[in-house]
Amino acid sequence: MKLSSANINVMVKACRKAAKNIIRDFGEIEKLQVSLKGPGDFVTASDIKAEKILIEELQKARPRFSILSEEIGQITNDKEFKWIIDPIDGTANFLHGIPHFAISLGLEHKKEIICGIIFDPIKDEMFLAEKGNGSYLNNQRLRVSSRSILKDCLIITGGPTFRSKDKDRQLSLNEYYKFSSKVMTPIRKMGSASLDMAYVAAGRCDGFWQRNLNYWDIAAGLVLVKEAGGFVTDFKGNNEYIENKTILVTNSKINEEMIEVLK
Ligand code: IPD
Ligand code: CA
Ligand code: CA
Repeated sequence: MKLSSANINVMVKACRKAAKNIIRDFGEIEKLQVSLKGPGDFVTASDIKAEKILIEELQKARPRFSILSEEIGQITNDKEFKWIIDPIDGTANFLHGIPHFAISLGLEHKKEIICGIIFDPIKDEMFLAEKGNGSYLNNQRLRVSSRSILKDCLIITGGPTFRSKDKDRQLSLNEYYKFSSKVMTPIRKMGSASLDMAYVAAGRCDGFWQRNLNYWDIAAGLVLVKEAGGFVTDFKGNNEYIENKTILVTNSKINEEMIEVLK
């Protein structure tokens, strides 16, 4: 089975084009020119090039859609449709030659993400979803895992970082401390929030929690996880994960147990 619609086809084409550059640059990582954007936050020439290709392709096909993209920020046009772009999610992995990063591209319609792609160009894994039409990995339908006992689950997180506030750092470490006493398999920290969400959607992992992510880190993952039967909430189980900057992504079984730990 294959997910195909006018918007999805535009997104796939843009991603594949940007990925060609990313793959080439990854192969020549030593030669990349790296500039410092802020403490602990590097932006590479590849990020900017990939973003430019994505925006050019998307604007060619949908000239009126608004855009929110990590490096260039906001381009305001259409009030209803907006592309949400993270050209490389997992930049630190990319820079260190670790093959675990993705292009993350979501399409928002009236404040809701209706299409999403998370494309890992090195493993050639394309996670795709459209509201009402399901989630796919390279044309295979996705479902979240059915593990129901937290102890048996594989869970993931990210952060805190150099830039985190002391309070957030403390809270993140407390959460890590609590979860690590509840799960048999050590918690994973893989460095790409969009792929973390994709892995929950694919049933590879069972739960993911993190503080202080940006909208472009999670946008595509929102529809992917929901269409795969998973749950996305804030740490209290509500829908305010964007406003509260706390996100909890789970299969349909362990959401309540994870909320209990996060209290
Ligand atoms: C980062 C990754 C990482 C997460 C950070 C993000 P970037 O995005 O998603 O997993 O822990 O909070 O900033 O900077 O590589 O696009
Ligand atoms: Ca990111
Ligand atoms: Ca990025």
